[in-house]
Amino acid sequence: MYDLKNFTLDEKIRLLTGIDAWRLYMADGKLPEVFLSDGPHGLRRVGNPKEGGGDTTIFATAMPNVVNLGNGWDEGLARLSGSTIADECVMHGSDVLLAPGVNIKRSPLCGRNFEYFSEDPVLAGRLGKAFIEGVQSKGVGTSLKHYALNNSENDRYSASSEIDERTMREIYLTPFEIALQAKPTTVMCSYNKINGIHASENRYLLKDILRDTFGFEGIVISDWGACHNRFKSLKATLDLCMPEKGDAFDQVKEAYEKGWVSEEDIDYCAENVLTFIARLQEMKKIRKVEWTKEERHENTVKIATESMVLLKNDDGVLPLKKRSICVLGELAKKPAICGGGSSHVRTEYTQKHLADLLKETLEVEVDYEDAYHGHTCGLVGARSSIERAAKADQVVLVVGEDTSLVCEAMNRTALRLLPKHEMLIENVARVNENVIVVIEAGSAIDTSPWQHLVKGILYAGYGGDGTNEAICALLCGKSVPCGKLSETFPFAADDVVSNPNYARGGIDRYEEGILYGYRGAEYNEIPVLYPFGYGLSYAAFDYENLTVEKTGDASCTVSYDVINRSDFPAKEISEVYVRDISCRVLRPEKELKAFSKDLIPANGKKRVSVTLTERDFAYYSVNLKDWYVENGAFDILVGASSDDIRLSARFTATLPEEKQFT
Ligand code: BGC
Repeated sequence: MYDLKNFTLDEKIRLLTGIDAWRLYMADGKLPEVFLSDGPHGLRRVGNPKEGGGDTTIFATAMPNVVNLGNGWDEGLARLSGSTIADECVMHGSDVLLAPGVNIKRSPLCGRNFEYFSEDPVLAGRLGKAFIEGVQSKGVGTSLKHYALNNSENDRYSASSEIDERTMREIYLTPFEIALQAKPTTVMCSYNKINGIHASENRYLLKDILRDTFGFEGIVISDWGACHNRFKSLKATLDLCMPEKGDAFDQVKEAYEKGWVSEEDIDYCAENVLTFIARLQEMKKIRKVEWTKEERHENTVKIATESMVLLKNDDGVLPLKKRSICVLGELAKKPAICGGGSSHVRTEYTQKHLADLLKETLEVEVDYEDAYHGHTCGLVGARSSIERAAKADQVVLVVGEDTSLVCEAMNRTALRLLPKHEMLIENVARVNENVIVVIEAGSAIDTSPWQHLVKGILYAGYGGDGTNEAICALLCGKSVPCGKLSETFPFAADDVVSNPNYARGGIDRYEEGILYGYRGAEYNEIPVLYPFGYGLSYAAFDYENLTVEKTGDASCTVSYDVINRSDFPAKEISEVYVRDISCRVLRPEKELKAFSKDLIPANGKKRVSVTLTERDFAYYSVNLKDWYVENGAFDILVGASSDDIRLSARFTATLPEEKQFT
């Protein structure tokens, strides 16, 4: 559509860098405007010259954060989130949404975990892929980010992620590889270095792996400010440097004149940019707005409701009974709905007070007290909170972490709640035996100091505009909890296998290799607070009749019944893990390879089927520079969490001898 021949050398060089914070070069009207906007949990459209420019973003629907999409384990929900945000992109003319991020949650301390899906590569990749499909189905482009190995926020501009090839391919690049199947229009490279070379200048990652191995055909753009020397990044095939960079043109021109880059190097990226702009023009033809404002809000409530995780429910304290309730905590009034940084959404939606929602729904007496203000001051009205709690039959206590603690560009410093929140829980639990704690947070929280004192815990994540309505629906039993943790909750940061090497200054050694997260805890027999894949329901499910039907030398169909033993329909996430029994290299105890979230009728059952392919049995061989399945026995494990395996069966891989190295 746009012919490179119609552009001068200078114009081609200008194409390789943005003209301001959000737009691409237009070559005096030869090219249409392309406007990029954040982000993963809602549109953050900043600085549009037509709208007066500046730093203030427009109002948009605040979606549940990606942490919730992870805990939802539902590709349908991820697709719905993407497609809801894309509607607002279409309405405001944003051509590319700078999302989703599929980086692995290597440590619960990473400050950006709320923007990422999971610690598991298959779960993160599949949900990322679905999100991209949702956005691009509306004719809006996406940016799969942050490629790669950006797993810590401290020193993110300069730290080097030092990692071996097998770990890189099996764990950290796999979610990108899977999500790329949805053909995102762009990939955003990360700020950090990988084995000493910045992502933006890393030809091995950008060309050899991303394009030549994974087959990516879109453009690679730099994270904002991640491009250092434009000529070096050009050599690495970084197509677009963002945002504008004053010296970019001169750096490339000078390198060209000195013979360090050729016109072919420039043409390679310039052509990619033109093809990308042409693709966006094609995509524009299918642009549509599907949802009304009210429907977009309903989508946030649905996603939030189906992604909160019930961690504890002793004596069936939940759903709440039709008896008096005391709601405590300022977050009940002004919930923490989103982490901070470039993904923060400016919403105009005013949350209804959780106490009012509970009162309307249950028609019982509901008392309320702030108990604390913000994150910086101490407890307020401590005595009256306790008096009120003592009088009520049930207490709902809302605690958590707001953007002052959870924000891009800084890691978290602790896994425990603020001391004042813990103190409040302890004080209230002394006077009331039916305490339910609701946690609003973006990553794992250490609940161990106080969880034995309370009967119920609901992990809400960040539910966006849907936060309080979703919490109310779950607490009252209007909806049945159906989220599960997409990350391990450790007892303490010191229990995290990667911790000794994590974010320790300029060099970030991934010495734990493939044994991090649940893989690391299981291999090293470290007890965890809540295991990967864990989450309770008001229903009870049984698993029966596992069959493994061989469909090839190293592939099969796994089928099993999920039976709902309750009187109401409910959703269950079932998880399929593979354990390599006979392999002669190190492998984790087991790895998630498939999952399914299904609505099971009251007292009914559903037969669930998933397929496993050769790749699901393979490890990455650094000798072969390829994925390799070693023939022999594998266990197929089906469970309700990584720590609750209900069914198992044996599978034997029988690849021909020519494919084996024995
Ligand atoms: C973030 C990206 C974001 C970009 C533009 C960067 O600081 O890392 O995720 O898309 O800013 O706002």
